[in-house]
Amino acid sequence: MELAAQTSGQARDFTPALPLLRAYDFTVATFTRESVWRSALLRQLDPRESDVIADLGCGTASFLALVGKAATPVRLIGIDPDDRILAKARAKLAMVGVQASLQRGHLRDTSTLLAGAGVNKIVSSLVFHHAHLAEKRAGLKAIFTALPPGGELHIADYGLQRTRLMRVLFAIVQRIDGYDSTQPNADGILPTLMREAGFIRVDETAVIATPSGSISLYRGIRPPECA
Ligand SMILES: C[S@@+](CC[C@H](N)C(=O)[O-])C[C@H]1O[C@@H](n2cnc3c(N)ncnc32)[C@H](O)[C@@H]1O
Repeated sequence: MELAAQTSGQARDFTPALPLLRAYDFTVATFTRESVWRSALLRQLDPRESDVIADLGCGTASFLALVGKAATPVRLIGIDPDDRILAKARAKLAMVGVQASLQRGHLRDTSTLLAGAGVNKIVSSLVFHHAHLAEKRAGLKAIFTALPPGGELHIADYGLQRTRLMRVLFAIVQRIDGYDSTQPNADGILPTLMREAGFIRVDETAVIATPSGSISLYRGIRPPECA
């Protein structure tokens, strides 16, 4: 299934967080063991005050809020193609008192949107399974270009579904989000695509079983020699 979805007669070239946006935060908390993978992702990201961190497909800014509270005054940028979810992100960040610059865009726009921003770490959670293969590839290339030598990419998303139970549970996500974008993730393609984009020291650092399939954490580094 292509990512284009019809809404009010207008084509959308991304999969929205959920058809019912109001239920998004509740659904993620209940069906993904959110506190487990978000805290593991935060530990892996290890935010420092000197970091400039971009969250791609930031959604309602749940992770930006966590990072902002963990390291002050870290500089934060959130990018998402959905204006409605960016409005929710703005409201959440204001409520928790975390500052971030929010921009509209897709994974593939990363290098253009982040040019000159000084970003040294990029993070993305539960986004790549929404992207069709060409967008996954273009996104990883754009992320590689946006990072300086030694810059870090951290991803949390549905990855290789290793057991029958995880495959059955993930099939529910696939029915909602579409097979074409989700199946490459379930086949474990992300580390291969990260290496293809030029990242080194690519690792699947954790695999977390959840009621909606297993969520993997990945890390990759832009090699220092690629100045
Ligand atoms: C399941 S939500 C995850 C949101 C957030 N990262 C989180 O952890 O809660 C997926 C998000 O990815 C965004 N998205 C979908 N396709 C995208 C793309 N091609 N590039 C960037 N973001 C995309 C959606 O608008 C949505 O906000």
